[in-house]
Amino acid sequence: MESPEDFKKLFSEEKVKKIFDKVFDNQSILTLHSLAKKGFFETVEFVVSTGKEAHVFRAVDVSENFRAVKIYKIETSTFRNLAKYLEGDRRFKDVKHSKKDIVFAWAKKEFRNLSLCREAKASAPMPTAVKNNVLVMEFIGENGIACRTLKEHGEHDTKTLEDYYRQTVEFIARILYLKELVHADLSEYNILVKGKKLVFIDIGQGVLTTHPSAEEFFKRDVKNITEYFTRQGLEKSFEDAIKDIKEAGKMLKKRQNN
Ligand SMILES: Nc1ncnc2c1ncn2[C@@H]1O[C@H](COP(=O)(O)OP(=O)(O)OP(=O)(O)O)[C@@H](O)[C@H]1O
Ligand SMILES: [Mg+2]
Repeated sequence: MESPEDFKKLFSEEKVKKIFDKVFDNQSILTLHSLAKKGFFETVEFVVSTGKEAHVFRAVDVSENFRAVKIYKIETSTFRNLAKYLEGDRRFKDVKHSKKDIVFAWAKKEFRNLSLCREAKASAPMPTAVKNNVLVMEFIGENGIACRTLKEHGEHDTKTLEDYYRQTVEFIARILYLKELVHADLSEYNILVKGKKLVFIDIGQGVLTTHPSAEEFFKRDVKNITEYFTRQGLEKSFEDAIKDIKEAGKMLKKRQNN
């Protein structure tokens, strides 16, 4: 593979080829090329999701491991919102405010936040690489098919719902009490269901608790989650969840100190 043109040939699906020029600006092509050259993946196979801010593809590496490649759009229309989450995060205080810089910082932020999740043993995709606006991570799928979101799943029985609620509380508590991190966009849209296990994704907007709006974002996360479970028939108040998160946090701290 010598040039970005060669790289383009590696895309195996017609649909991907068709949208190639729409989706990939030259910068993204060069970035993908550089990541592929370093061995983070070999072929980008097909589109998993196309959204407002990012496109997610399934890729495969030489050892036939699947990877999720998330490409943040540089010309994203909502980039001004991104700035709100970056300002006030001491990790990104030197970021310049051009669209490109903000999007690059955003991708890096998701990579770091995913790394923090892994360190806290909170269920999230393992990040493998980030460069400019491209993030490579573990592909959350079954038999090569991306797992559905909690939103896309139908009804769940009470026992399953109780377990999902417990896993959600555990996730929030692990990142909060072990890493001082708040997801800040937690909802049934950003949770994948792998078998009976929940995997929490899309954490680019996650902030540290030192961020001036961290508490507001935390409360919004808890509200989204309790509303979801209540709608599903597992009645949980905001106060219930706060209590459960605190309790889970105490247990984690206790285990950490022993
Ligand atoms: N690691 C992954 N493994 C498998 N599928 C993934 C992975 N990450 C993301 N996806 C798929 O891509 C979709 C969008 O991902 P994500 O939520 O991270 O992006 P987003 O920022 O919400 O994008 P947008 O808001 O622009 O749609 C997810 O709902 C899921 O279907
Ligand atoms: Mg999302």
